[in-house]
Amino acid sequence: MIITIVGGGSTFTAGIVKSIALRREELEVTEIRLFDIDKERQDKVAVLVDWILHEDLKCDIKLVATTDEETAYKDASFVFAQMRVGKYAMREQDEKISLRHGCVGQETCGCGGMAYGMRTIFPMVKVIDDAEKYAKPDYWILNYSNPASIVAEACRVLRPNARIINICDMPIAIIDVVAAAMNIKDKKQIVYDYFGLNHFGWFTSIQYQGKDMMPALRQYIKEHQILLPDAYLKDKAALGVAPQKESGTEGNRHTRGSWYYVWKGEYEIMENFPEMLPNTYLNYYLQQKEFVEHSDPNHTRANEVMETREKNLFDGIDKYLATGEIDEKVFYAGSHGDWIADLAIALKNDTKARFLVITENRGCLPNMPYDAMVEVPAYIGKDGPEVITQKPIPLFQQGLMMQQLNCEKLLVQGCIEGSYEKVLQAFTLNKTVPSMKVAKEVLDDMIVANKGYWPELH
Ligand code: G6P
Ligand code: MN
Repeated sequence: MIITIVGGGSTFTAGIVKSIALRREELEVTEIRLFDIDKERQDKVAVLVDWILHEDLKCDIKLVATTDEETAYKDASFVFAQMRVGKYAMREQDEKISLRHGCVGQETCGCGGMAYGMRTIFPMVKVIDDAEKYAKPDYWILNYSNPASIVAEACRVLRPNARIINICDMPIAIIDVVAAAMNIKDKKQIVYDYFGLNHFGWFTSIQYQGKDMMPALRQYIKEHQILLPDAYLKDKAALGVAPQKESGTEGNRHTRGSWYYVWKGEYEIMENFPEMLPNTYLNYYLQQKEFVEHSDPNHTRANEVMETREKNLFDGIDKYLATGEIDEKVFYAGSHGDWIADLAIALKNDTKARFLVITENRGCLPNMPYDAMVEVPAYIGKDGPEVITQKPIPLFQQGLMMQQLNCEKLLVQGCIEGSYEKVLQAFTLNKTVPSMKVAKEVLDDMIVANKGYWPELH
């Protein structure tokens, strides 16, 4: 059984491989292939992956690192996609150009997310076409590549029959934090209900061993004025004042650096709307002005990541090559890799385990369009997700979702048709953008910055 990882040079590859290797019996995996267009970067990551597989875990899984599509996809059963088109350098542009115009500067939300989407749509379609051509006929692509909402919509429109499931680790990362705050040791016993679009949704219930955790969680957030477990807040004095410093990659990576503000935002949002637990990404849409105010337009999340996760990884690999010593803290392993590997187990072994997936609505959320790509719980078996039908969404959340959904649909249409007007409508419709004039200014700067990545708009 072959698993191909697309975006082999990613800072997340090592963690994903570790999660796969730890599940090698259930997955019956015999070979892992790394595929990337950046050979030099991937070859470095492959050194670490080789160490994980053959030194650390001593398994006999074959490892191949390649830049050739046929070698990468031939007879693969699973393709785990996690490409970052334009790498962190373009994420930095996305964030900084938006902020320069007074808009939220974020990887997947607002103007930055739309720019990233325009770069990723066609490379993602190529992954599907390569898998169709070379992989096993019953292949599954499990896709983490962002912005997952826009990518999912584009794949639905352009390759409706592709065997692809788009996923995100943020809800599960939120559940990790909730479990730590609530002192729950066995996360697997937590069952939750959730609805939304990707990076745009709400938990409607969280249960542990059949007990409703929402009342205790609400109280915790109110008392702490943040949704972070005490143990993660090393410097309590920093509470409410400054973002946490990143130190190594130990602990929960979503609680480091400027992530601090979104956990604070969970408190701020729930002070007004306490019924549901919002996805952390809703901060960018509900507190757009405040986000811009506490952002540093010269030093964004992309810089934090380059200075910490990316640097630690490649420095660690260089050190290993020079001294033979490895510090496992140089790479992130945990929920992100576990989630995708567990999903593959559910598909392969037809377990009907419950996962959140991004999938075509088809009536599951009754007051959202039939063809909306929504993020909802589903039981996963060999033929894919069996989605759990839900109640109608309240007006506030439905209104927000419709605005975001139509924005993403317009962006995808504009990208496919090469229509400047539709892309400008998408930028204008996004809730993080204050006016049509600002939308146009950001878009025009994005066109220049994305030359060679975006389709021509006319
Ligand atoms: C979460 C989201 C991902 C996103 C990541 C960014 O895991 O689900 O979609 O890419 O956060 O994290 P970073 O540490 O790169 O800011
Ligand atoms: Mn995500």
